[in-house]
Amino acid sequence: SLESAVRRGDASASSCRRFSSDSTPERKVAILGAAGGIGQPLALLMKLNPLVSSLALYDIAGTPGVAADVSHINTRAEVAGYAGDEQLGKALEGSDVVIIPAGVPRKPGMTRDDLFNINAGIVKSLCTAISKYCPNAVVNMISNPVNSTVPIASEVFKKAGTYNERRLFGVTTLDVVRAKTFYAGKAKVPVAGVNVPVVGGHAGITILPLFSQATPASNDLSDEDIKALTKRTQDGGTEVVEAKAGKGSATLSMAYAGAIFADACLKGLNGVPDVVECSFVQSSITELPFFASKVRLGKNGVEEVLGLGPLSDFEKEGLEKLKPELKASIEKGIKFAQEN
Ligand code: NAI
Repeated sequence: SLESAVRRGDASASSCRRFSSDSTPERKVAILGAAGGIGQPLALLMKLNPLVSSLALYDIAGTPGVAADVSHINTRAEVAGYAGDEQLGKALEGSDVVIIPAGVPRKPGMTRDDLFNINAGIVKSLCTAISKYCPNAVVNMISNPVNSTVPIASEVFKKAGTYNERRLFGVTTLDVVRAKTFYAGKAKVPVAGVNVPVVGGHAGITILPLFSQATPASNDLSDEDIKALTKRTQDGGTEVVEAKAGKGSATLSMAYAGAIFADACLKGLNGVPDVVECSFVQSSITELPFFASKVRLGKNGVEEVLGLGPLSDFEKEGLEKLKPELKASIEKGIKFAQEN
């Protein structure tokens, strides 16, 4: 019956056939940590994305409820919830994109690196499962510290013999989202048209927004303004952690940023040309093995890691300053994966 079809989330059985079934390929997206502060709104946003045909929501607990709730939304994606280790394989099987916001968030006074011990283990076990159940999936790593969790993932995949550097991404989109918002406010330009590349890594001073390349360009911003914008972008996460006063870190803006980045990955996989986003990926544009910069996305994941472009003196200085910290975080991740 129609009712049972709808209960199954089978929109194509309704009188109005799903609009995109002919032109848009089937794409399965899995969210690991889907019952969390980021996971839930991210599940909502991915359910709204017409490029998604199947949405798997996995967490250690709580996902049946989130999945039942989100599944009632009358959009294309069929939603299923999976809870606990024994269901992880089923959640991952056939996934084109796996988004990982699993782990613990920061509390006031904590750095992203303070999360290392707990989240490193979680990321390692989830990536081990990915290499087993969907080794070709594009992985979007949100769990912090991204500067270390991405290298951990790469080592896990290397050990399993499934590593493909074009398919592993650290999600730094929230830094870009923040840079755009703060720049638009200061430069008094409409935010919708603003672009700001953010390079480096995803923690404190390793986050380097390139306001000299911001568009539309603004002649009204002083060096002091740029310094303040840079600092606010770097400390954006801490601003939220402090405002939430012990109740976690950015979840809603992060879910938005995660949804934007996953959408870009899906567009790339579907062959949409000229999809460019900043992301923390394996890179040779500096001497560091991983680095965030503009990346062109395509059918294979990373099609091209784009260079940094011309930097201001202030940005050049920031780039040199961030390298030792980023290098140490990368090495910490690699060491963890090799020793555990
Ligand atoms: P949360 O605590 O609200 O949710 C995390 C979820 O992960 C929980 O539902 C928990 O049950 C689940 N989880 C724990 N172990 C798991 C496992 N082994 N498998 C599957 N799920 C598991 O935390 P929130 O606020 O959603 O943050 C999640 C992560 O995202 C944190 O590491 C946080 O630091 C990071 N984050 C990253 C940002 C970025 O820009 N990349 C921005 C904000 C947060």
